[in-house]
Amino acid sequence: MKKNNYINSLLRVNHAGEYGALRIYDGQLAAISNNTKDLDLRTQIEHMRLQEERHFEYFKNQITMRHVRPTLFMPVWHAFGFMLGKLSYQLGKDVAMATTSAVEEVIEEHYQDQIDMLSDYFENEDELMNNIKQFRIEELEHKDIGDQNHLESNLLCKTFKSFTKLATKIAIKISKSL
Ligand SMILES: [Fe+2]
Ligand SMILES: [Fe+2]
Repeated sequence: MKKNNYINSLLRVNHAGEYGALRIYDGQLAAISNNTKDLDLRTQIEHMRLQEERHFEYFKNQITMRHVRPTLFMPVWHAFGFMLGKLSYQLGKDVAMATTSAVEEVIEEHYQDQIDMLSDYFENEDELMNNIKQFRIEELEHKDIGDQNHLESNLLCKTFKSFTKLATKIAIKISKSL
């Protein structure tokens, strides 16, 4: 793959992924009640959403600056992310948190692969690499929050997690090139 193509596809998929993450949290927040018992969870979700917004803004600027076409699937991720977030929360708080764990588990590895590629083959992309490094740390924090708020042994969580991981991997594949 030519160097330019790699960076273009990296930016395209990350831009799409961060948008999808935003939409998942939007869906969860739309389903969350205003009960005081949910207030703590709402605060945590809002905190994570704020970080995704920063990640998204960064990649949005990058694709604009470098004239990279966003994925044609943006409207799909817009709808699918929201639906996934809302449905997960409707199935239970722990299922919503399992969804976060699942997404971040895939994204953490996805970002690590990119960091390795950038450090090995792209000597002029330190700024991009350092941003991805920082984002990866924050995605790991999101994964921890998800992990702390659901039980690995819960069958519904387990099933939903497998589904979400698969969906995330498919979304990544699509958004890289299309
Ligand atoms: Fe993110
Ligand atoms: Fe995240």
